[in-house]
Amino acid sequence: MRAVILVGGKGTRLRPVTYDIPKALVPLRNQPFMGYMVDFLRSGGLDGAVLSLGYLPDQIQAYFASQDLDGFSIDYAVEDYPLGTAGGIKNAERYLDGGTMVVVNGDVLTGMDLGKAIERHKATDALATITLTSVEDPTAYGLVEVDHEMLVHRFLEKPAYDEISTNLVNAGVYVLEPEVLEMIPADREVSIEREIFPELQAQGRLYAYVSSSYWKDIGTPRSYLAASNDVLSGAVGAREDFEYLDVHPSTQVGKNVKLLPPVSIAEGCEISNGATIGGRSSLGLGCRVGERAVVESSVLLDGAEVEAGAVVRGSIIGPRARVGHGAIVRGMSVLGAGCVVGEGNVLDQGIRVNPGVFVPPRSLSF
Ligand code: GDD
Ligand code: MG
Repeated sequence: MRAVILVGGKGTRLRPVTYDIPKALVPLRNQPFMGYMVDFLRSGGLDGAVLSLGYLPDQIQAYFASQDLDGFSIDYAVEDYPLGTAGGIKNAERYLDGGTMVVVNGDVLTGMDLGKAIERHKATDALATITLTSVEDPTAYGLVEVDHEMLVHRFLEKPAYDEISTNLVNAGVYVLEPEVLEMIPADREVSIEREIFPELQAQGRLYAYVSSSYWKDIGTPRSYLAASNDVLSGAVGAREDFEYLDVHPSTQVGKNVKLLPPVSIAEGCEISNGATIGGRSSLGLGCRVGERAVVESSVLLDGAEVEAGAVVRGSIIGPRARVGHGAIVRGMSVLGAGCVVGEGNVLDQGIRVNPGVFVPPRSLSF
């Protein structure tokens, strides 16, 4: 069985990180997100996937070209313009085998039992089975009302507060019969959540499978940092040989450096005397942390630099960005690629956008 992985979105809620890195490739414990996705699909017994792409497709294709996927086959369906979450599946049709398929949102990190979801789907006359997870605030998701037989009675994308009738939401992992492809008009933007699921529900052919396993949509700075912490802590995706101190042997570590697990440090990093790295941090390729600097619960992307005496807490530092001498960056701040927080400055809950990128007002948010 094959999957369609939807990775055509622009990742607007994870800007400015996603100006340079598609959401599909943001690293968790220094492994691009798609690595976890392939492991997840394999865990469900799938043998290949079609990547439904639109935004920054070259980077995603280059990533897969560099991987040895041990027989897991990959095809690419690239959109000329965004076709939406159902249009993206339709566009992948030529690479599917005409049988039952799995579809996943390409920004969902989960430990759910995919094999069991497929099994449950096959035990019903469903044309589609949506997996569900329980969240505190369903307003950012697709709310799903089910009955005692797991038949879906209502699918409501992004409900308003006064429409919340359940905490169960669409987990972004579906099992679909090929008939669903016939319901999707070709060559126009179609939303599976707003158009196809309500239609399947009306036909009484939409079922649900509830999972209580780990689940997170990594699409905002807050949830990306939380997912990074969880992966570093071994809460999801951990294998038998999991290392809490995942430090590349090339790392240059100065005197009196504190590395507090869990941390992940990629190739070519330099940690100077007296610096502290810990509390669930990951440092990408060639990052530099200066003397007595502190990095805690943060993600430093490739080539980021934290100068002497600076403090970075609970924040995302973009590729080649720099936190100046003695500066403080905290409170879920995000620095875009190449941004600089000057010497001694404080950035608290702030966003700095890459030099040269025009950002329309109010287009950035947590
Ligand atoms: N190919 C393609 N084309 N993919 C797209 C497009 C498109 O036009 N638009 C979005 N995608 C991809 C995104 O890249 C992402 O991986 C996935 O589809 C879902 O899009 P998001 O923009 O992340 O949606 P969301 O998080 O607001 O809501 C969706 O996911 C929730 C679970 O995380 C919905 O499916 C909700 O119902 C669901 O609860
Ligand atoms: Mg999402």
